[in-house]
Amino acid sequence: MRSIDIIIKKRDKQELSAEEIDFFIQGYTRGEITDYQASAWAMAVLLNGMTARETTDLTLSMARSGQILDLSDIVDIVVDKHSTGGVGDKTTLAILPTVAACGLPCGKMSGRGLGFSGGTLDKLESIPGYRVNLSTEEFRKQLKEIGIVLTGQSLDLAPADGKLYSLRDVTGTVQSIPLIASSIMSKKIAGGANAILLDVKTGLGAFMQTLAEARELADTMVAIGQLAGRKVHIMLSDMSQPLGFAVGNVLEVKEALDVLHGGGPTDFRIHCIAACADMLVLGGRTPDLPSAREMVHKVIEDGSAFNKFIELVKAQGGDASYIEQPEKMAQARYVEITNSPHTGYLSQVHARLIGEASVDLGGGRIKKSDPIDHAVGIEVLHKVGEKIQIGEPLFVVHANDPQKLRQARETILAAHSFSENPVEPLPLFYQ
Ligand code: URA
Repeated sequence: MRSIDIIIKKRDKQELSAEEIDFFIQGYTRGEITDYQASAWAMAVLLNGMTARETTDLTLSMARSGQILDLSDIVDIVVDKHSTGGVGDKTTLAILPTVAACGLPCGKMSGRGLGFSGGTLDKLESIPGYRVNLSTEEFRKQLKEIGIVLTGQSLDLAPADGKLYSLRDVTGTVQSIPLIASSIMSKKIAGGANAILLDVKTGLGAFMQTLAEARELADTMVAIGQLAGRKVHIMLSDMSQPLGFAVGNVLEVKEALDVLHGGGPTDFRIHCIAACADMLVLGGRTPDLPSAREMVHKVIEDGSAFNKFIELVKAQGGDASYIEQPEKMAQARYVEITNSPHTGYLSQVHARLIGEASVDLGGGRIKKSDPIDHAVGIEVLHKVGEKIQIGEPLFVVHANDPQKLRQARETILAAHSFSENPVEPLPLFYQ
């Protein structure tokens, strides 16, 4: 078999066999197939697509490119969750401790920010000392001992995805349904998940901008799950405006803590409770959603969800006093409120522009090697559909550089659109 023939076959819109896909993926993982060949192949897949069978074979081949974690000696059913990424999406920080406090052990490997979309690992590193590079053995030990782990992707798991993902990021080949679906599902399968809750985002601040594309991605991942013997639940959620109010690492950790204390913005809190309840049902912890929701409310009210987060932070070397007194976390030098220049109904709070403004403030990376400024970010103060008066506070920018502050103010102002006529609030979920 030759890699060039596989590239040409996909370029010519033909279906690849399982053997051809596996030859390409394992060869690429071992370094026998070059980055430029893999780029050409990824572009051919992006342009010509893949059948459901090809996508599943690709997923399984990527999952098999490294170790497949077996956690069956620790947990009866391994339940994982994954969001396709968005702006202000700090749900993992609130969901994981809540689910673990309900008695369903939860170990998760998360990622860093990607373009305008934030990453859980960057947020966690706002907590001094927190380690995101646990070994597989440390992962297993901690999951067994305290029932919660939140760390980075181990290098041994789905290494083909790690390599291919960085390549796609710089070759314009991220936005492909078979490539996204196989990337996500290969990591979940390699991580040992039996049941997976997928939060597929759609809208201006999501990879899938239309509901139709998001549904296609969701259906593809459900089909992979079925063929691979995994249970998959889907949440199709809005990402046209940021989730919650906070965008930026420290700001998002603080907002997640608010939810663990029973507060936080309504949309973000409802989103987290819905996801927790679904995971509890998937994991067989409760028979149905109403009893799951009841359990979730209880562990938030009695403080055990928050205490689980403290336990997690301590176990991973973090200084828990920053969680107990979040005001200790890094604060930006300049905190500036911008008032609304208009009276009217908010018709858009453009998530992507706000995510980009946060990256430009230093809260994300433009190059892979860029350091993160954890303190900077944005608090949007209103949601689509709200009536705003001229002069009323519209958003707050947290910056460490006056020039960047001015730039962010302009971008975020442009992200807000107004209408004279009433505007329907955006739904939180489409499914
Ligand atoms: N998240 C992933 O893990 N992979 C993708 O390709 C896109 C989003």
